[in-house]
Amino acid sequence: MPTVVAPKGLEGIVATGSSICWIDGDAGVLSYRGIDIHELAERSTFEETTYLLWFGKLPNATELAEFKKHLSAARKLNPKVVELLRSVPTDAKPMEVLRTAVSLLSIYDADEADSSHDANVRKAFRLTSQIAMIVATFDRIRKGKAIVEADSSLSHAANFLWMLNGERPSETAVHTFDVALILHADHELNASTFAARVIAATLADIHSAITGAIGALKGPLHGGANEATMRLLYAIDKAGADPVEYVRQMFAEKKKISGFGHRVYHTEDPRATHLRRMSEELSKTAGNRKWFDMSRKIELFVKQEKKLNANVDFYSASTYTLLGIDIDLFTPIFAVSRISGWAAHVIEQHDDNRLIRPRADYVGPEYPTRYVPLAER
Ligand SMILES: CC(C)(COP(=O)(O)OP(=O)(O)OC[C@H]1O[C@@H](n2cnc3c(N)ncnc32)[C@H](O)[C@@H]1OP(=O)(O)O)[C@@H](O)C(=O)NCCC(=O)NCCS
Repeated sequence: MPTVVAPKGLEGIVATGSSICWIDGDAGVLSYRGIDIHELAERSTFEETTYLLWFGKLPNATELAEFKKHLSAARKLNPKVVELLRSVPTDAKPMEVLRTAVSLLSIYDADEADSSHDANVRKAFRLTSQIAMIVATFDRIRKGKAIVEADSSLSHAANFLWMLNGERPSETAVHTFDVALILHADHELNASTFAARVIAATLADIHSAITGAIGALKGPLHGGANEATMRLLYAIDKAGADPVEYVRQMFAEKKKISGFGHRVYHTEDPRATHLRRMSEELSKTAGNRKWFDMSRKIELFVKQEKKLNANVDFYSASTYTLLGIDIDLFTPIFAVSRISGWAAHVIEQHDDNRLIRPRADYVGPEYPTRYVPLAER
């Protein structure tokens, strides 16, 4: 019989070995393949970072060019997937549509039945390109706008903004979005990545694992927190309330404030440092400091009252809003980035697999409890 009972929520439990991502929650360190996130945010691109996550090293110039070529060549959506996007109600939630569309992708994927290392890498390219295209294409369709064809000459970030808005994005918008993609690309055994690994460990295919991961990301305790944060800012604005008093009241009602707290970080989330800066820079450029100033007041108050730090979701909310992105696309955009990390983890899991199957600490009725026939109940 098993004897070790893990704490609720598996807090502090090391569930697998992995060479992809390392976090020191006390020191506020996040690194991909050993490289500090601050360096990547300042010097890398989403494409280079994704190469690093999948292949374990930074690419040289030829490898990077080849990688970009593969990624842009994968910017194709089967017409049946576009048909699905057209057939769902226009008020369907983009995150639900994304989850459903990614599930459908596998039916049209030539490598569906092949979970070898090379097939997984080929599928990872396609999924990375296609997830971005699904999010942008559904947004066009639901707004009654023409679908924008992918542009293979653009970077991943620029192509997404191009397909979303139908106009050439500014350099600032592309750079900000690219850095946001790098910051969200991987985060060790977060809930959605763990879900993906559990599914992959049954030797199910990568599309099944990513569909499950999208379901996990949707929750407000995980990726859904960026959307919830912006809804909070809107609610405060609409009520014409003082942000500090509003949050104080939420604390009095024992409510959680989205965008704060973290299972692993006990100090500043290093991703929040960049998102705070980008949110402030965009506010200055846009001449609209409302969301940044409100966020900053809330951040300082929550820190002072509860000693909780802003996490990755808090300033991504105002950053995306200042980029003109709709609130219900925030969590799908998290998936646009996190697919790189999910894919790296599924590949790693399949490369050295063992079924993930823990035990439960049974706390139900005593065994044996007699079966009472229906007539006697
Ligand atoms: C991220 C999160 C789920 C981590 O959860 P966890 O490690 O299980 O921590 P808990 O939810 O048990 O929180 C521990 C304590 O801090 C409090 N706390 C944690 N996050 C809080 C928040 N955002 N607002 C208010 N209080 C919070 C809890 O109420 C709890 O207090 P208690 O011990 O007095 O009951 C949690 O901080 C949270 O719900 N944050 C808001 C959602 C969010 O931003 N998610 C995105 C994470 S990147």
